[in-house]
Amino acid sequence: MCGIVGYIGKADAASVLINGLRRLEYRGYDSAGLAVLDDGQIVVAKAPGKVAKLNDRAHADWTPERFRRVTTGIAHTRWATHGPPTEVNAHPHLDQAGDIALVHNGIIENYRAVRARLESKGHHFYSETDTEVLAHLIGDCNKGDLFQAVCDALHQVEGTFGIAVLSAHEPDKIITARRGSPIVIGIGEGETIIASDASAILAHTQRVIYLDDNDIAVIKADSVDIRDLNNIPVTREIAELGFDAAAAEKGGFDHFMLKEIHEQPDSLGNAIRGRIDHNLGSSVLAGMGTSPRELAEISRVVLLGCGTSLHAGLVGEYAFEDLADIHAEVQQAAEFRYRNPILGNRDLVVAISQSGETADTLAAVREANQKGAFVMSLCNVVGSTIARETGRGVYLHAGPEISVASTKAFTCQVAVLLMMALKLGRGRRYSREDGIKLAREIESIPELVAKVILQNDRIAKIAADYTQNEHAFFIGRGPMYPVALEGALKLKEISYVHAEGYHAAELKHGPIALLEQGTPVIAIACDVPGKDKTLGNIEECRARGARILGIVTEGDHETAECMDDFITIPRCHPLVATIPAVVALQLFAYHVARLRGCEIDQPRNLAKSVTVE
Ligand code: F6R
Repeated sequence: MCGIVGYIGKADAASVLINGLRRLEYRGYDSAGLAVLDDGQIVVAKAPGKVAKLNDRAHADWTPERFRRVTTGIAHTRWATHGPPTEVNAHPHLDQAGDIALVHNGIIENYRAVRARLESKGHHFYSETDTEVLAHLIGDCNKGDLFQAVCDALHQVEGTFGIAVLSAHEPDKIITARRGSPIVIGIGEGETIIASDASAILAHTQRVIYLDDNDIAVIKADSVDIRDLNNIPVTREIAELGFDAAAAEKGGFDHFMLKEIHEQPDSLGNAIRGRIDHNLGSSVLAGMGTSPRELAEISRVVLLGCGTSLHAGLVGEYAFEDLADIHAEVQQAAEFRYRNPILGNRDLVVAISQSGETADTLAAVREANQKGAFVMSLCNVVGSTIARETGRGVYLHAGPEISVASTKAFTCQVAVLLMMALKLGRGRRYSREDGIKLAREIESIPELVAKVILQNDRIAKIAADYTQNEHAFFIGRGPMYPVALEGALKLKEISYVHAEGYHAAELKHGPIALLEQGTPVIAIACDVPGKDKTLGNIEECRARGARILGIVTEGDHETAECMDDFITIPRCHPLVATIPAVVALQLFAYHVARLRGCEIDQPRNLAKSVTVE
């Protein structure tokens, strides 16, 4: 949510910043801006819309000499919170004197009070943003030492921030700080680059430092000095990124989403490899950091997440109950800390998050930690806040997910949840023999998914018949119910078709009233327990004129014949089948959106990493 880049070094800073913003654009893309230091002055360029517009604006307004000259600057791509996405609301924002520039990710909750106080001292504000208030506050605190001014200002604000600050009077440095919004510092040769996430840093260096909450750092071309907000030095380790710039490119695909769908056999391979114990029919998940005794004592599993990650949790719920006989429940992370979650030290809380930065999930993790539960995470982004705050957990190893719509992270989340459930199950009711069989099936997931992806062209043809509808329903039962929810979410977020996922039995309790001649009903009707009942529900829909697209099991001709159109998935264990089934729905959503001419990788109003509540 909002992307920040800062650069100080020897290269053409404006181009470095714009290229960095392009990498971060998935975080927010309603406006963008940059500020550079040129000849002792701060110069700003901003534009509403995408980074490409900012690039045009900067090249139109600035001379090539300026591009060659400037080696220090900060930049931002915005996802609007306070005020619409106009040029004046775009970051960077300046202080009253125009000598200090600020980019900010997060929300300053007490900005109204601070603004009123500064206005009474004669400050004049141009934008509706909370960020401009913070810029003015830093200027107000500045008595000739930028670092101290930022510390003093941050002591006065409530809320969340990841910031980068530039001053015309201290041109050799950028100040950066975080509370609740990530900041990564890349350490290059004679250059330092900071960003909201590592994808903007990859082109420069593999060596990074992740700031912790309440860290503040002075960044120079050849040094990084990290302190806390009370000016006490802190030590943060340098980590290696472990993936290169190619991983963040489209690699010949039209969209990142299509690339990421196609990557799933590999990403799933990476998530599963080395984690299966064929001999015991179990899994090896060292990151869980649990002794067999601790595992045996777990009496309940609580799965937390938002959006797609929540849907993965719902599949996990079935898996833990089915394989391990453990009471499992999914809770919306956003709601978790506002109710009274009853938790104890025998409850295993699993926070699921691709980015590891989702504000609601992070807040839920903190609540669970505080209540003494046994907390772990399933994150994709290594070193992310949730991964670090939980301390234990399992990384997905899905590689960078750039498309705003999550695909490969979901399938890896489900695969890892299955392995966790298998591990818990083997310590309880699940026999070694059954464990060995399921472990083999889990290991074959990449192959199963590859078979679905082979149907890409056929799915594209089917999708062509569903582009005119403005409404669609997705139905499923058992573990296919969350698959229906996820299929609907994928379709609505990228194609803007109003899509709803329902338990197949639930339609007749109300939503069936909306069915008309030709309304699409996408039925997950794989050959798993409950299929016959789903077939009954399909007939109820057909009788009301619905057009049925079925996800069916290969070779199940009888079921395929009940459908107007169908996509097949290979025959496999019902829990495992959730993964190929969802891949079929990802491709369906992708092609509907493509044929409707939508901006697939950056759907309107969305952002990849939701770091505000
Ligand atoms: C949908 C999507 C979102 C995210 C949600 C949680 O395609 O990507 O629903 O799943 O915002 O994000 P993470 O997993 O990063 O916590």
